[in-house]
Parts: sequence; C-alpha cells; structure tokens
Amino acid sequence: MISSANELARRPPHAILLKTRAKALYRWVTSRAVSSSPVVCMTLASHADIVPTATATAAPLIRLDGVHLNLASAAGIVNVLRGVDLAVSSGETLGLVGPSGAGKSTLMMVMAGLERPTAGGVQVAGHDLVAMNEDALALFRRDRVGIVFQAFRLVPTMTALENVAVPLEFAGRDDAFDRAEAALGQVGLGHRLTHYPAQLSGGEQQRVALARAFVIEPALLLADEPTGNLDGDTGHRIIDLMFGLAERRGTTLVLITHDAELAGRCSRIVRMADGRIASDAVSGKKP
Ligand SMILES: Nc1ncnc2c1ncn2[C@@H]1O[C@H](COP(=O)(O)OP(=O)(O)OP(=O)(O)O)[C@@H](O)[C@H]1O
Ligand SMILES: [Mg+2]
Repeated sequence: MISSANELARRPPHAILLKTRAKALYRWVTSRAVSSSPVVCMTLASHADIVPTATATAAPLIRLDGVHLNLASAAGIVNVLRGVDLAVSSGETLGLVGPSGAGKSTLMMVMAGLERPTAGGVQVAGHDLVAMNEDALALFRRDRVGIVFQAFRLVPTMTALENVAVPLEFAGRDDAFDRAEAALGQVGLGHRLTHYPAQLSGGEQQRVALARAFVIEPALLLADEPTGNLDGDTGHRIIDLMFGLAERRGTTLVLITHDAELAGRCSRIVRMADGRIASDAVSGKKP
C-alpha cells in the first residue's frame, strides 16, 4: 500500500519499464550525438593564492598525452585541441578555466571518452580510452565517472527522481529510487521529485543534473559550469556538496568554471587558451 506522496514518487507505475530502459537511456544521456553547445564565457584569470607549477606525486588518475582533436565544420576543419598534455592525480580538485571557445568542454568530453582524439593518448583510472569500444566506455562511465553537462541533458520525459535514478538503475541497484531521492534532498529538491525538466527552473535542472552525477559516488566527477545557473546561497551549498564528496570519498573533481568562489576552492587551476594549456598552477588548498 502506498503511504505517502513521496512513496508514490519512489514507486512510479513505470518503474519496471525504467529499469529495462535504463541502459539505453544512460547511453543516450552520455552519447556524443546529444549536443551541449555551450555559450558560456569563461574568464577566471588568476587567484592571489595560486603559485606556479603543479607537480603530481601520485600515479595520475587522468593522463592526457599530446591530445589533438580536429572537428569538421562547414567552414573546414577546426583544430579544437592542439596538443594537450595533462596529468591529474587521484583526489585532486582541478578548476579548468579559460575564455569561451578555448576547448574546455571538448577536453572534458575527451576525459569522459565521449570524444575520441584525432591523435594522442587518453588514460583514465588505468583505462586506455582510445582503445575501448562504445560498450566498454559506457560501462567505464557507469562505474567511474559522474558528468554534469553544460546543457544538463536531462531526459525530458522523466521526472527529476527518475532522471537521477537512471545511472543507479543501469548499475542494477535495488535502492535506486531511495538513493535518488536522498541525492535530490541534498541539492534542495526534495519537494520537486515528480517534476519533469520542463517544470523546473534552470537552476533546479542544474541541481538535478548534479544529483545524477554524484549519486553514484564516482571516482571522477566532471562538471561543466556546475554553478552557472545558481544563486549565491544555492551555489555555496552545491560547492560544499562537491567538495564534501571529494573529501569523503577521495573523488577527483574536474570543474569547468568562471565562478571565482568555486575556482578558489580547487587545489589546482589549469587555464586553457586556443586549444592548449596556457598555465597550470597549484593553490595552497588541500586536494
Ligand atoms: N562539433 C564541432 N564542430 C566544429 N567545431 C566545434 C565543434 N564543437 C566545438 N567546436 C569548436 O571548438 C571550440 C571549443 O569549443 P568548446 O565548447 O570546447 O569551448 P569552451 O572552452 O567550452 O567554451 P565555453 O566557455 O563557451 O563553453 C569552439 O571554437 C567551438 O566552436
Ligand atoms: Mg564549454
């Protein structure tokens, strides 16, 4: 017997259908075919407490070697990434900054195995992403990576609760809806479980996307402008959540941001310009 509105939300009539479709949906959400076409100007320049040069001591969780990415457009080939070398240690909190069009979102897609480089190597958590097929990459993301896309990529025909439950269902978790509800509570959306994306504000959609990314407690959280649509108080809360996860679970954070508060919390700032890394600096912050 259903005892409350929340219980109703947790056990939607099509929960079984959702379970069978979770894998396909998750593939859709994280597929390259879904365009995120970002238009956010990234202008964080520097922070007073940043000193030059980051030297990774532990074995890197992410290792990019000479990554080039060329994409075809009507105007010809665009050299989006032009030789990126980067090593990110486990537990590091990295702010990825730089002007609009610098290649930040594209680099994040490469780290997630959603874009294959034209040349170069991509190793994440010991996996050679360049050598893996799409199925292997989907499983790798399911188990290791939470992704917040610049344009959210929520499934429009699913409620907030169902959207957050998708990666858990894909992972075969019996407690998917309970965990999804808890995650939505953590981002302040416990009262919006049954709302569809179109019934949510931009900031609320962003928080659903965040909840979906961290609900699996990933080893690596990749987030593209995660506080871009949030007011100050909500932004603080989300920043605390992400860094709390990093501290509690040793999660590595790669955060594309122009939010000075968010960048200021990162242990390292990598600045991109014109498809390359222009500067790389550690802050005094604990990873
Ligand atoms: N599919 C594509 N085909 C051709 N060019 C592309 C494609 N996707 C991105 N680009 C180009 O690659 C460059 C880098 O894009 P990207 O989205 O990575 O920039 P960004 O640093 O994330 O910018 P923003 O801060 O505006 O989000 C841009 O000049 C963009 O026009
Ligand atoms: Mg972008």
